[in-house]
Amino acid sequence: MPRGLFITLEGLDGSGKTTQIKRLAAWMDKRNLQTVVTRQPGGTATGDRIRALLLDSGSAPLASMTEMALMFADRAQAIAEIIEPALAAGRIVLCDRFTDSTEAYQGGGRQLGSERVLELHRLICGDLQPDLTLLLLPSLEASLARARRRNEKHAAKTGQDENRFEQEQGEFFRRVWEKYREIARRDPGRVVVIEGNLSIDEVHEQIVEAVSERLVALHGAA
Ligand code: TYD
Repeated sequence: MPRGLFITLEGLDGSGKTTQIKRLAAWMDKRNLQTVVTRQPGGTATGDRIRALLLDSGSAPLASMTEMALMFADRAQAIAEIIEPALAAGRIVLCDRFTDSTEAYQGGGRQLGSERVLELHRLICGDLQPDLTLLLLPSLEASLARARRRNEKHAAKTGQDENRFEQEQGEFFRRVWEKYREIARRDPGRVVVIEGNLSIDEVHEQIVEAVSERLVALHGAA
């Protein structure tokens, strides 16, 4: 059985990843491609508990190292429970965020540096690399405005807020943004950057184009 394909979506809060991952999964469904959709942090029962610890802005502030360690604890569980078994079964894994997020947010945003994140990735994740990373990078201002609106809506509906990261100031997000750009420059064969203020349909088209290319390379057909 040929190994599946590991695709990750990355971007700032409010970059539209969640909408795009749903559309991409529907596109794959129509083509009878077997996909597994997951997200980080979360996606497993243990991961959902780690996610609650990480994102609840009502709990005590986490040290940056704790935050990074929890992200990797969550990831190790997702790799063992979901990602590796699916890839081994020949499935396509669509993962909303992966180690690039830790490098961008903890390495860049929290200023822990890339080296530490990449070292932990080698140690804890066996250096598992996505075959393709779709990095959605609309303007910083547009992303922030969307994230704020989304968080207000979510809090009004559920009484819960998940805005620990969204409370961060502009400087934090600028560092995250810059780190994402650095990752894309370093790894152009893996990371496809989708930028500019594009419509949802335009972003979807670019995603489908990048994914089709990889599918052709893998199976000889899209
Ligand atoms: P989530 O609600 O999944 O946001 P989004 O829909 O924007 O992906 O929240 C995930 C938050 O956790 C987001 O602010 C980014 C942050 N994060 C990190 O800081 N490091 C990481 O390694 C990961 C996976 C997420």
